[in-house]
Amino acid sequence: MLLLYLTTVLLLVQESLAVELNLNISTSGYYNVNLNFFRWLQSAPTYFIVDGTRYNLSDKSLYSNASYGGNGVDEFGFYQSIRYRYYVGKTIIDCSINTYDTGNHIVFEQKFVTGVTNSRPQSCSGDLHCYQQTTGTFPSFYLKKGQVKNLGYLNFGGSMLGNSEVQTGQWDTTTADLTDGMGGGPIAIFDEMGNTVIISPLDNFMSSSFWHEDHPGGRINFGVMGGAKSIPANYRQRFILLASSSINQAFQDLGKALRKVSGASPKKEFYRQNDVTLKYLGYWTDNGAYYYYNTEANKTYEQTMKDVFDYAQREKIPYRYLQLDSWWYYKGFGEGVKEWTARPEVFPHGIQSVQQYTRWPMGAHNKYWSVDNVYAKQNGGKYNFVMSPIVAVPNDTSFWYDLMKNATSWGLKMYEQDWLNIETLFSHDLAEDLSLGERWLTEMGNAAEFNNITIQYCMSLPRHGLMSTKIPVVTQARASEDYHVQEDQWKIGVSSMFAYALGLAPSKDTFWTSTIQNGNPKYPKKQELWPALQTVVATLSMGPVGPGDMIGATNKDLLMRCCNMEGLILKPSRPATAMDLQIIKAAFPDFNGPDGQVWTSLSEIYGDKTTQFGILLAANMSKPYKLRAYQTEFPYQFYDSIVFPYNKPEAAMPFNGKYPLNLNGCTSDQFCLFYLSPIIIVGQHTIAIYGEHDKFVPMSPQRVTDIIYTEDDMVLQLVGVPSEKVVVSYLLDGMQKNVTTVFSTSRTAHISLVLGKTKHVTIAHQRPFTGSFNGFGKRGV
Ligand SMILES: *[C@@H]1O[C@H](CO)[C@@H](O)[C@H](O)[C@H]1NC(C)=O
Ligand SMILES: *[C@@H]1O[C@H](CO)[C@@H](O)[C@H](O)[C@H]1NC(C)=O
Ligand SMILES: *[C@@H]1O[C@H](CO)[C@@H](O)[C@H](O)[C@H]1NC(C)=O
Ligand SMILES: *[C@@H]1O[C@H](CO)[C@@H](O)[C@H](O)[C@H]1NC(C)=O
Ligand SMILES: *[C@@H]1O[C@H](CO)[C@@H](O)[C@H](O)[C@H]1NC(C)=O
Ligand SMILES: *[C@@H]1O[C@H](CO)[C@@H](O)[C@H](O)[C@H]1NC(C)=O
Ligand SMILES: *[C@@H]1O[C@H](CO)[C@@H](O)[C@H](O)[C@H]1NC(C)=O
Ligand SMILES: *[C@@H]1O[C@H](CO)[C@@H](O)[C@H](O)[C@H]1NC(C)=O
Ligand SMILES: *[C@@H]1O[C@H](CO)[C@@H](O)[C@H](O)[C@H]1NC(C)=O
Repeated sequence: MLLLYLTTVLLLVQESLAVELNLNISTSGYYNVNLNFFRWLQSAPTYFIVDGTRYNLSDKSLYSNASYGGNGVDEFGFYQSIRYRYYVGKTIIDCSINTYDTGNHIVFEQKFVTGVTNSRPQSCSGDLHCYQQTTGTFPSFYLKKGQVKNLGYLNFGGSMLGNSEVQTGQWDTTTADLTDGMGGGPIAIFDEMGNTVIISPLDNFMSSSFWHEDHPGGRINFGVMGGAKSIPANYRQRFILLASSSINQAFQDLGKALRKVSGASPKKEFYRQNDVTLKYLGYWTDNGAYYYYNTEANKTYEQTMKDVFDYAQREKIPYRYLQLDSWWYYKGFGEGVKEWTARPEVFPHGIQSVQQYTRWPMGAHNKYWSVDNVYAKQNGGKYNFVMSPIVAVPNDTSFWYDLMKNATSWGLKMYEQDWLNIETLFSHDLAEDLSLGERWLTEMGNAAEFNNITIQYCMSLPRHGLMSTKIPVVTQARASEDYHVQEDQWKIGVSSMFAYALGLAPSKDTFWTSTIQNGNPKYPKKQELWPALQTVVATLSMGPVGPGDMIGATNKDLLMRCCNMEGLILKPSRPATAMDLQIIKAAFPDFNGPDGQVWTSLSEIYGDKTTQFGILLAANMSKPYKLRAYQTEFPYQFYDSIVFPYNKPEAAMPFNGKYPLNLNGCTSDQFCLFYLSPIIIVGQHTIAIYGEHDKFVPMSPQRVTDIIYTEDDMVLQLVGVPSEKVVVSYLLDGMQKNVTTVFSTSRTAHISLVLGKTKHVTIAHQRPFTGSFNGFGKRGV
């Protein structure tokens, strides 16, 4: 399939696209990685720590007397392998490299045949630096230029799914400290053409790391996390290295590989599609929201939330759920959560009273557990916790089950586990014990699933994101800082690429829909300069759209561009992600790429055949850029297409090899938003569709549920709310047309684009929405 597709593009653009990944392996334990037959990565000597001492291959203290060929079958199919068996005294560690007949990837495996008793350096107990290292390495690569190419890198790291310490730069002997250790994540290495290699753990996500040793330059080591005290016999750690001709595609391929291993994929997709906090507009009270640790004057939170509801009712703002941030429960030592129940001064009649008044399902925030929490056996409670000096980690299936079950009594539908980084970094047990981290998150997930609750990860490190591929109910993750903390926290295009790969909806966090909302003592001077940008970014993310406005301050006209009249979010089929060009430009400042944010997304409408529509958002650009069709990651049918500026269907332009798209004046105040349509031929006619007016996603699978192609017509099946008005714009034989539909109680209408007419139908012929996380097209050059 992939090869076939590549061949097609090859013919179209007359450029070689394929990347050939191969290895140059020596029997003495070295393995260089080549792309298109030139060296990209040179292997660094394997080492392992055994009984507190580091044994290196280079100085022969790590001893291999043989390499073996072999073969086998795993999740990716048939493989051939070369295995090095290493000895340190009686300790045996097998390191294997598996190569496959299909797919552009290699798997590296460490197998601790005998186990290792003390896998940390002797110095470790006093100096916790080793927590940021690895107990051994395979693979390991030097940071240096490729044989013929300059290389750049993208290094996710730190909280917010690796967005808070994400780094981009050049991959060579001057590369400064990468974000590694417990905070590190998968690393992508690419050239100026977008050819990419990604290296990532393939399993044991909570207990594997990479370590950037000897920087600047130096080497990166992949292995079991450095804090691990011992490694049991037959413990296996795998890493995948894959290659692609595009950065975005490489992350997609990584996602596919992780999903193959986790097996959780169909269920996860189901939970993501049915998560009320992803499907519908909601009201949020997170950091930066007007009612974050703030209520109406002289009123309780309980009353304030009821007043938010009344205001929304009056204004017909269709919020469908409420998010309760960290202001409602009891805190203990170190501001950790002591008891996750409502404080009476906040909710005098319980969260139930708000739930009953509004009928809104609840999303609720939680923190790290304090060491004096009321649930732990150590404090007289009934559940098992692992205590460290600063935080406590639940290690008890029944604890999570009871917590979630209890919360269903007040309508919990989405559990937001925040502070995942602090819980992990401040609990030594999570850095020392190979299974505690996985058990903690799996038990949380299982209990949520049992109670039909989904989970948002917040402040997650990349390892939590990777782990979530095995936990179906984790449907979403925060992809940048809190709204209030950072002015440009809307820039989630790069982290959304990682989220999308993991099958997660990235969350931008809450926002204001109007600039001035005075009277909040917490943020007396706050203004939202770009409410439209905030709203469009949330809508294109596929994550929550959850404003946190003051009562009376919502810009309803702006906000409703996200949704239909009932608050159903009209979204694309994949989150908007930063284009390769933006990332390459960030790594290579001299590269002729766009200087700013340029993201793309796609809507897929299912019918007898799938029809795709493109979306391009450009903002915060310091200078203009002429974008050529083949430079995008859009599928090749967009290489000769029509582009419509937002809200100006009459200003359609061709977009092809001859006519680039001029990205000019795309700042934060005045972002540029474009919609791309393939040129569709029906009978004697050509059609290019803009879609629905006044929505940020004018062709969304939530609104357009089918496209019926006949011999001489194209019919769109629309669904909507009785009395809701929809205007669909398109070009018919180059002429701009609008068709207006007002939905009847049938909620379904068919519009004929050739006749320019609407027909209401009573029996909806609806295909189930199977919003796809399929691969994305290939980049041309
Ligand atoms: C393979 O690696 C060896 C040792 O680094 C080097 O001498 C040789 O040129 C390499 N061959 C290829 C095809 O890269
Ligand atoms: C292994 O290599 C590292 C880095 O070169 C060095 O610091 C260390 O001393 C070596 N260890 C042994 C046991 O030789
Ligand atoms: C390699 O060394 C180990 C331990 O010294 C020994 O048991 C094994 O037979 C050797 N294998 C080969 C192929 O020489
Ligand atoms: C809130 O209560 C204070 C003290 O009783 C009073 O001075 C103030 O006017 C009240 N504010 C409102 C808006 O009711
Ligand atoms: C966590 O609980 C499991 C199952 O009861 C137990 O085997 C394990 O030792 C516990 N982990 C820690 C670090 O206490
Ligand atoms: C759940 O509720 C029961 C009954 O009120 C209580 O005994 C238990 O401690 C609660 N458990 C959790 C984890 O909330
Ligand atoms: C689970 O929750 C979803 C979303 O709220 C709902 O549609 C579904 O009916 C629930 N399933 C069960 C078994 O309660
Ligand atoms: C880009 O964003 C930064 C940070 O918000 C801002 O300071 C700068 O003025 C913006 N530039 C443009 C051209 O929008
Ligand atoms: C269709 O609607 C758009 C947006 O309101 C308007 O700009 C355009 O002129 C209309 N076109 C026609 C042919 O009525």
